[in-house]
Amino acid sequence: MGRPGYISRLLFLAALSVAIGWYAWQRYADPAPWSSQELEQITALWIQNLPKLSPNPANAVADDPRAAELGHRLFFDPRLSSTGQVSCATCHQPIRNFTDGLPKAVAIGVTERNTPSIVGTAYSPWFFWDGRTDSLWAQALAPLEHPNEHGSSRQHIAALLAWDTDYRQRYEELFGVAPQTDSQSMIDRTFANVGKSIAAYERLLLPGESRFDRYVAHLVAGGDYLKQDILGIDEIRGLRLFVGDAHCTDCHNGPLFTNFEFHNTGLLPPSGELPERGRIDGVREVLRDPFNCLGDLSDDPQHTCMELRHTRTGPELIGATRTPSLRNLENTMPFQSKGQFETLSEVLEHYNRAPLAIIGHNEAKPLRLADWQLQELESFLGTLAAPIAVDEKWLEPAPASKPLE
Ligand code: HEC
Ligand code: HEC
Repeated sequence: MGRPGYISRLLFLAALSVAIGWYAWQRYADPAPWSSQELEQITALWIQNLPKLSPNPANAVADDPRAAELGHRLFFDPRLSSTGQVSCATCHQPIRNFTDGLPKAVAIGVTERNTPSIVGTAYSPWFFWDGRTDSLWAQALAPLEHPNEHGSSRQHIAALLAWDTDYRQRYEELFGVAPQTDSQSMIDRTFANVGKSIAAYERLLLPGESRFDRYVAHLVAGGDYLKQDILGIDEIRGLRLFVGDAHCTDCHNGPLFTNFEFHNTGLLPPSGELPERGRIDGVREVLRDPFNCLGDLSDDPQHTCMELRHTRTGPELIGATRTPSLRNLENTMPFQSKGQFETLSEVLEHYNRAPLAIIGHNEAKPLRLADWQLQELESFLGTLAAPIAVDEKWLEPAPASKPLE
């Protein structure tokens, strides 16, 4: 073997060891301390920074405990449906963080989208993946009349409230009148009040403190970022990617890990289906929804409705859906608005490639992260699991009511 061959081998080995060293350092060295900018971003995600839920002027009973009691009963009651078998909890199951484990929800028929969690959703100005309602109470009315969900009618529901003694008494105590069924406008009012009571219940469902939040509390108290038994090294690395190179906090920000805005993330529809048009259709629907903030049944006397009046309607909304919360993903698979992905690693793989959108424009850019970095991101997402911060009694049907005195 000649001298040049020997040198090039040496050079090759040197380059190889540099590469291995670099990889090992990237992969296994202790993560560096948090910069002040990172700390700021991390603290912004802390559950302690979740403000108190602001009042909803469109719903006069939104924070009335009696409304939550009535709403709790209605949420779990299958008698509201046309078959006597479907309740809100059929799809929003408390043990699955109020989702159902299916790609697309199924009740009387198969619906068009995946069941989102409703925990913490009271903070959103818009509801449904495409934001086609602007209050929790208006939202609650939609599944009741949807042929594939409760398949019911407002007449049937108003009549049930008037007929059932417990409901009638609770309703009367809350709204000052008996449930009315005499005319269409009275039926509509009773129906809207059903939605307002269910909304009062849903406002109680808030996420609790996760391991991630305990870690932030530890950092805020001046604790060591590394030497603690709250988060592991991989989870810390995942958090660094989440707020940094992976750009997740561009959209999943704030204590609920969502900006409650609409974005196109380049998802393909399930095979054989048309692409999701998302908010561009949702915005038209919410503007003409008779139960919206500007409607007669809104309790807001001023009808200020700033969100609704000033909402964007431009072409950037084509294919855009609302950013979901990332808290408590543990029991909520499959993921995405059409249940496209079975696992979190498929979701992350999608963000890593960021394919071109088939309609509109994908706002997320390819990340080009290594597999182990995606794994770290996934580990971090696991630290957001936590029990729902509410007394157990709200997570199961209310015991059969005794007649009120
Ligand atoms: C058949 C299953 C099913 C039933 C029954 C059902 N839902 Fe849903 N729910 C869904 C699906 C699917 C979506 C998303 C639909 C969409 O965006 O187009 C949804 C969306 C929601 C949302 C919006 C969450 C958000 O963050 O945007 C809320 C709140 C909600 N449902 C509450 C209820 C209530 C209250 C009831 C009972 C009156 C109910 N649901 C009945 C499946 C169901
Ligand atoms: C441009 C805004 C944007 C960015 C950036 C973004 N997301 Fe999302 N994310 C969304 C939207 C919008 C959806 C819902 C899309 C759909 O299913 O229609 C979503 C859905 C998800 C879901 C599915 C949740 C569920 O319940 O179905 C996960 C998990 C997720 N994102 C994690 C991440 C992570 C991790 C990052 C960083 C790598 C990230 N996202 C970056 C906007 C964004």
